[in-house]
Amino acid sequence: MKFYIETYGCQMNIADSELISTILIEAGHQLVNNIDEADLIIFNTCSVREHAENRVLGRIASEKYRKTSNPDLKIAVIGCMAQRMGKRLIENYSVDYVAGVDQYLDFPKLIQENKGAITDPDYTQTYSGIRPHHQSRTCAYITIMRGCNNFCSYCIVPYVRGRERSLPAELIIEEVKRCGEKGLKDITLLGQNVNSYAYQDINFPKLLRLLNDIDSIHRIRFITSHPKDLSDELIEVMAECSKICEHIHLPLQSGDNDILLAMNRNYTIKHYINIVNKLRKAIPDIAITTDVMTGFPGESETAFNHTLQAMRQIQFDYAFCFKYSPRENTKAADLPDQIPEAIRLERLKKMVILQREISKNKYEAKIGSKVEIYVESLSKKSAHQVSGKTRDFKIAVLDGTERDLGTLKKAQVLASTGSTLLCG
Ligand code: 5AD
Ligand code: SF4
Repeated sequence: MKFYIETYGCQMNIADSELISTILIEAGHQLVNNIDEADLIIFNTCSVREHAENRVLGRIASEKYRKTSNPDLKIAVIGCMAQRMGKRLIENYSVDYVAGVDQYLDFPKLIQENKGAITDPDYTQTYSGIRPHHQSRTCAYITIMRGCNNFCSYCIVPYVRGRERSLPAELIIEEVKRCGEKGLKDITLLGQNVNSYAYQDINFPKLLRLLNDIDSIHRIRFITSHPKDLSDELIEVMAECSKICEHIHLPLQSGDNDILLAMNRNYTIKHYINIVNKLRKAIPDIAITTDVMTGFPGESETAFNHTLQAMRQIQFDYAFCFKYSPRENTKAADLPDQIPEAIRLERLKKMVILQREISKNKYEAKIGSKVEIYVESLSKKSAHQVSGKTRDFKIAVLDGTERDLGTLKKAQVLASTGSTLLCG
């Protein structure tokens, strides 16, 4: 079959789409980039917020019309929502195939037998040994662990993705080398909580040291880190290893201790700020990005203001701001004092406005400085420009052509749009 994949959610899902592409290609199917050519449309889905799920249900509904002109067309749902909803997607939404997060190896069989849903959890499944079909020509996401043990009280991930398991270090190293040799020299290691990577006697900092020695790559990043597990050893390794970028994504979630406790985050705002201080001392140019949420049950106006205050104090380079979305079966969904949607929305707006201003200042502060840019893609706006990132995760554009893709360029920051550095 000719399959087309539409991916929602986090980078882990992008990596899973690349994994399933390999599985299907090896089974004789063909990946297409144009939905009109497809006879199998796959939606790789996210369950973290209700909005993400609704978008996919809307997309399925709007693509169903294709079945009238092409009766052989199949629609599949994979990923977190497939795991969560299983057969219900077939019964209520006219989906043909449903494959849960641990069942991708059996997806070709599902197609062959032309039937149903497979969602049995397998908490040992790591898909180790399968080489992802990387979409980008310059950057690679590499999954180093799957699952999560943290059970933050708002989060559905541990229920759909199961317990933590780490991939063998030697396979990660081999894959990173292979990517570098193919020209994908910017590596992002993925896991719900990379800090708890553990394979034999190799912990996360040790894995980073091993990867830093690989000649064929230029840069290493990783997501996501949990503040309760971020060790001094990791900070040391980040400061010492030249390929590890000056950037960390460290979800704060809330700036209020009572809310953090109710979220089961296992740290206080004091602990978080202490880590930020240590990071900035060891790695002076480090960019810190975060996830913050508003409207968690019981969040008073004061508690919300504590989050704004923390954002002002910490000065994140970027923050993904979310409004709390109750998820079925999570602890927080059953808490009293759910915050009305209108208040959640109003608070979200305030957070976004505040962060936009902080990010703008961070970008402007770069004007005049020399930066190193890894060229990731051709500019969408100009035929003579390319786009990439600085080591501290800022988007940058500069003059260049196809030939520059996958290379490092030194340039000066001439101006900022507030969210892009214009360099030359
Ligand atoms: N509602 C809103 N945001 C959520 N996140 C996780 N679960 C929820 C939820 N129920 C956010 C967290 C997490 C990011 C990936 O998504 O901020 O870090
Ligand atoms: Fe969800 Fe918390 Fe695990 Fe992140 S660490 S995936 S927020 S439970």
